[in-house]
Amino acid sequence: MPNTPSRITVEPPSPTSRRARAVATAALAAALAVGATSVAAADTPVTPERVTLTPTETPATSQTITWRTAEDTDAVVQHIPASGGEATTTTGTGTGRAGGGYHHRADLAGLEPATDYRYRVGDGETWSAWYPLTTAGQAGEPFRFLSFGDVQNDITAGAAPVVRAAYEAVPDARVAVHAGDLINHADDDAEWDEWFAAQGDGAASVNHVTAIGNHEYDDWDISTVWNKQFPGAGNGPGDSDLDDTVWYTDYQGVRFVTLNSNYTNAPWFDVKDWMEDQEAWLEDVLADNPNEWTVVAFHQPVFANSEGRSGAVVRRFWLDVFEEHDVDLVLQGHDHSYGRGGLRTNETSRAGVTTGPVYVVSVTGPKMYEPTPFDWNLGGARVRTQLGDTQTYQVVSVESDLLTYEARTADGTVVDAFEIDTSGAEKVVRDR
Ligand SMILES: [Fe+2]
Repeated sequence: MPNTPSRITVEPPSPTSRRARAVATAALAAALAVGATSVAAADTPVTPERVTLTPTETPATSQTITWRTAEDTDAVVQHIPASGGEATTTTGTGTGRAGGGYHHRADLAGLEPATDYRYRVGDGETWSAWYPLTTAGQAGEPFRFLSFGDVQNDITAGAAPVVRAAYEAVPDARVAVHAGDLINHADDDAEWDEWFAAQGDGAASVNHVTAIGNHEYDDWDISTVWNKQFPGAGNGPGDSDLDDTVWYTDYQGVRFVTLNSNYTNAPWFDVKDWMEDQEAWLEDVLADNPNEWTVVAFHQPVFANSEGRSGAVVRRFWLDVFEEHDVDLVLQGHDHSYGRGGLRTNETSRAGVTTGPVYVVSVTGPKMYEPTPFDWNLGGARVRTQLGDTQTYQVVSVESDLLTYEARTADGTVVDAFEIDTSGAEKVVRDR
């Protein structure tokens, strides 16, 4: 999407703009003057909300930002190096009304790699707060990312404490991966409000890799806000039925890929086309991958982790691609329990040492199902850690030849941990 950068000088970043403070002060004065309990008026400022970072294909030098306002406004982003200097203004575009607001998008270009910026969004007069933005650095430079399972239910009371704990424990997280079912009802604006409140400043300061879940569909219709809030990197299979929900980004040595496993939500229930289109695209994306690490996220697991569920369809189309290209981490949700395992368990090696892709199912929210190894075993895999009634976030540390993973509960307890070591002749996955 073309933008028009220009350089202007602005006042230094502050938590809120001078105009926003002035408007708030005027509103308070008006309320006091008339003794009113509400000062909503025609000139109520259109303060940006739901400010969100979505990675581009090249997050070292560019950045997609989305937000919404109550009414249709101009869309403008200003960014400035955190170390100081001139601000750059980028004009964005309106992406339309959906849910309870009007959505906007801007694409920053020409950024410096591994650089701290500040940015704000608005209409040129009314602005958001200034948020931090750090561009991706070179492959091999260590960084950390978070991953979340289904948030979905009882978000504010039941799921948000886990999400907040994650951002507090990992304040340097650069990327957050979401394995679908962020909310329970695709177009329930109050649930989306709760989800963004749970993210706090994390929505605006961390790049989000968002896989879509079945609860982001209403029958066959994708949530009206999904693509406006999570537009993706725009490099998917080019199949309109997939609604731009399939894409990848290369972040500092990791190729993050998100797939759409909601084959039951295919517009005409054509499971074969839905899955095969992604299979062919995934083959290409993994065959031509210069990154040391590959992380794939989607919603319905390859090996179902709970009673009465099956990963047979996902296995039928995608499992051989993950295995042949030795994807490092496959992050999934949907089964409302925790499970971690893989196909290539080496029975002769010492306990806890395997190789090949690691498949993880996790849940962040409080809705729980009973875990079972049945479908793992049916699919020829072995589940190494399986937990019921356990809400987690995952933190992954990435270095040039070592990836370290921990699943943690809100109080910081590590309930599962392993590392993937590629420093030797053969990749090794070790329990920790
Ligand atoms: Fe689900």
